[in-house]
Amino acid sequence: MAVQTAPSTSRGQRTLKINVTVNGVRHDVEVEARTLLVHFLRENLGMTGTHIGCDTTNCGACTVLLNGRAVKSCTVFAVQADQGTVATVEGLERTASSIRSRRASTRSTVCSAAFALPG
Ligand code: FES
Repeated sequence: MAVQTAPSTSRGQRTLKINVTVNGVRHDVEVEARTLLVHFLRENLGMTGTHIGCDTTNCGACTVLLNGRAVKSCTVFAVQADQGTVATVEGLERTASSIRSRRASTRSTVCSAAFALPG
């Protein structure tokens, strides 16, 4: 992890520069060292599909894929995702939507082919 430190914020918190790819989009940002990944996703990136469901790390509502592994983003600091890739429910929805439209397109092509064939 090649985290660069930056000057402290007005609240006296140390910030760190991180580079994270979320749902295929790269983000070079500064975050406070104590920022949880779930807060980074919701507040910094506006990805509110990742929910905070508890204070006990038991519910799993905050689950995302970090470098392909499911993690509870309320238990991971944003700086731990530096140089990594994150997939949220928004990214999974885009993937599912793409698969659905590809399937629909394939069905349409198959139906067209069936009409074009004699017999
Ligand atoms: S918010 Fe419940 S496990 Fe993370």
